[in-house]
Amino acid sequence: MTHRITLLPGDGIGPEVVDATVRVLEATGISVSWDVFDKTGTDAVEAFGTPLPDDILDSISENRVALKGPITTPLGGGFKSVNVTLRQRLDLFANVRPCKSLPGIKTPFENVDLIIFRENTEGLYSGIENYDERLEISDTIARITRAGSQRIMRFAFEYAHREGRRLITLVHKANILKKAGAMFLEIGRDVAPDYPELEVNDRIIDNMSMQLVMYPERYDCIVTTNLFGDILSDLCAGLVGGLGVVAGANIGEDCAAFEAVHGSAPDIAGQNKANPTALIRSAVMMLRYIGETSAATIVEEELEAAYREGTTLTADVGGSSTTTEFRDYLVDRVATRARS
Ligand code: NAI
Ligand code: MG
Repeated sequence: MTHRITLLPGDGIGPEVVDATVRVLEATGISVSWDVFDKTGTDAVEAFGTPLPDDILDSISENRVALKGPITTPLGGGFKSVNVTLRQRLDLFANVRPCKSLPGIKTPFENVDLIIFRENTEGLYSGIENYDERLEISDTIARITRAGSQRIMRFAFEYAHREGRRLITLVHKANILKKAGAMFLEIGRDVAPDYPELEVNDRIIDNMSMQLVMYPERYDCIVTTNLFGDILSDLCAGLVGGLGVVAGANIGEDCAAFEAVHGSAPDIAGQNKANPTALIRSAVMMLRYIGETSAATIVEEELEAAYREGTTLTADVGGSSTTTEFRDYLVDRVATRARS
């Protein structure tokens, strides 16, 4: 069977890591017909006058699955983040970010295995913002809905249950955010009794940040609101070797978009330095989502083996290889394994 998948190379290091990922996927022998949209963000504004043309959203809705590179968002003014818009327009409410150690990378901890479930459509990213010119006051509203909190909680608990995880930590700021934060926490506590096999606790976000960098082994699954999830995912990436290795999935009822946690990394873009591991791990999640479980296992195991061996890794994880050298090495491993 041929899978039809929407492909957004993005910008910055996006096209480099997408190229590597597509080649690794194709080396498994699965058949994919890619609907490629080269222009997003700034490039799409120049070409079409909009950063996220509707035909991209239509393509993802129709194909039900997308693989995407990072897209740069202008600071302050300019267009709204394409990444945030895409998640909201397609209602991809669950952002799942597994932070799992890879062998052979020097990090402060071994065997970190965390999953962050980030609410992906509301909170401080709701887009409800105002600037009062006369009073010189800016407001950004963190809108949290009961339905939105319930569905991310259900999703996280179901996922943790299915995967045989042990603990869910509800991360919030309910001491200060007495409305939005408190409701999120209350809904988590309401859902918990339906999953008696899962231990449930909660932490205030500031304490949680300290806990994670000192005792990551005490935690397992984390469910939190949009901004906290965004920040904690980069923090947890730092526990397992950095942004070059951490995958993500944006999942909704009808479709899903798979992308790395990292951004467009303008500091290394176009230099053949980017680590495609994060997007390759996102693609492994995608393979499982579309039912290609044996291809997923092959890529996952060969990636781990490549790290264990450690001869051909990119600079961010202590190696001296380029993106394309790492890509070719992994493609070779995956293709050999897939043929055997
Ligand atoms: P970033 O994640 O792009 O980069 C942070 C640091 O990590 C940089 O030093 C970068 O070189 C390094 N890094 C990131 N990915 C790497 C990889 N695959 N291999 C090796 N090193 C890697 O974050 P930054 O610089 O804050 O944001 C840059 C742009 O990306 C911004 O416009 C931001 O809005 C956008 N962004 C887009 C995202 C998306 O498309 N989903 C997510 C996060 C940021
Ligand atoms: Mg982020």
